[in-house]
Amino acid sequence: MAFPEGFGWGAATAAYQVEGGWDADGKGPSVWDTFTHQGGERVFKNQTGDVACSSYTLWEDDLKCIKQLGLTHYRFSLSWSRLLPDGTTGFINQKGVEYYNKIIDDLLKNGIKPIVTLFHFDLPQALEDKGGWLSETIVEYFDKYAQFCFRTFGDRVKLWITLNEPNMFALLSYDLGIFPPGVPRLGTGGYQAVHNLIKAHARSWHSYDSLFRKEQKGMVSLSILAGWVEPADPNSASDREAVKRAMAFHLDLFAKPIFTDGDYPEVVKSQIASMSKKQGYPSSRLPKFTEEEKKMIKGTADFFAVQYYTSRLVRHKENKKGEPGAMQDAEVEIFPDPSWANVDWVHLVPWGIRKLLKYVMETYNNPVIYITENGLPHNDLTSLDDTQRWEYFRQIFQELLKAIQLDKVNLQVYCAWSLLDNFEWTQGYNSRFGFFHVNFDDPARPRVPYSSAKEYAKIIRNNGLEGHQ
Ligand code: BGC
Repeated sequence: MAFPEGFGWGAATAAYQVEGGWDADGKGPSVWDTFTHQGGERVFKNQTGDVACSSYTLWEDDLKCIKQLGLTHYRFSLSWSRLLPDGTTGFINQKGVEYYNKIIDDLLKNGIKPIVTLFHFDLPQALEDKGGWLSETIVEYFDKYAQFCFRTFGDRVKLWITLNEPNMFALLSYDLGIFPPGVPRLGTGGYQAVHNLIKAHARSWHSYDSLFRKEQKGMVSLSILAGWVEPADPNSASDREAVKRAMAFHLDLFAKPIFTDGDYPEVVKSQIASMSKKQGYPSSRLPKFTEEEKKMIKGTADFFAVQYYTSRLVRHKENKKGEPGAMQDAEVEIFPDPSWANVDWVHLVPWGIRKLLKYVMETYNNPVIYITENGLPHNDLTSLDDTQRWEYFRQIFQELLKAIQLDKVNLQVYCAWSLLDNFEWTQGYNSRFGFFHVNFDDPARPRVPYSSAKEYAKIIRNNGLEGHQ
């Protein structure tokens, strides 16, 4: 029941979801500040991250939680507009630098390794105003920001995540318009953003590689969201093909170019090209990489970071009329098995994580894998007893053990989402993923452990499930 010696146990947070201090000490606004301040019921009860967990002023309390769990790794993100208020290196907000320096130094003093995400959805508003991720200019802005972070914190931070879930982010932000900037651009915006996200990641990896790696000796990757998918009817060849397309449009969309050959999966290119034609577009809605760009993109990750929440069934669904949208381009319908229990959108499929890990191992040449997020919301907002939620985590750990021991997956780090209850994007404070409960009505924002916090601490102490010392 033991994990390999030296296995990393973490928990994750993201700047906008926990920090608050949205305009404190010279921080510039991010797209999430703008979006939540506009209201319009796009977020549960028009809640905002203005204060959130107030981690900007209560970092020491977070550190206590981290120590109480006994984490070996803590994953957090930098707020780009706290460091660079208008998104550019033209002006550096020293207070922001000090805030993150303190977090990093405190973690290291306590023997905890920081995993630092550069971008977790909160683009500086000033850059959104210049076209955001739809505009190619973002590649340069992101690279400059990344270089600034490597230069400023890289003497101590050795694990970097450039982008958090760029696949999900592009879809929600620029295609469906559910996240800021909130403008739907079905079938076009998402791909444009994906294109620039991939290039931005690759450019910043090269910057690290050529300017900082030798001295700093760290690793750089990106965290890709991957739900697991199974055919709705395992006996149907077309459903089995649909599963491959679903993976290609989701995990492989980023992983194939970055980990293998610098280009999108073939099936993604052919599907979008043929759908675009049906709709009368003069060329494919999916932009093309030049040969030079492909070379630049290929091989730009030092480990494989993946985030798993849930699984789904997939059915082939022909798109005869050429309806716009990513799912429509993939000609798939994706839905949960009605027999799976769920809490909100998370259907409880612990075995999906093992299958996913095996898929990554087999498709991407047995890389070192980090799970940078995995979790489940608590189903009872009134109680600190989350035994039921813990049962899911326990099953996840069993699946991880099978992946490591039986499938020989090279999994080295596991980070749960999340350390604290926090601002769960459009769900506001109505969805609680934390090991620590936060009372958002109390100005002191007290952190109180759920029962699962004690259980997680035990697993970490034992480096494995019960029964093992
Ligand atoms: C994101 C987190 C989010 C979590 C739960 C992931 O998609 O990276 O920011 O809170 O899932 O929804």
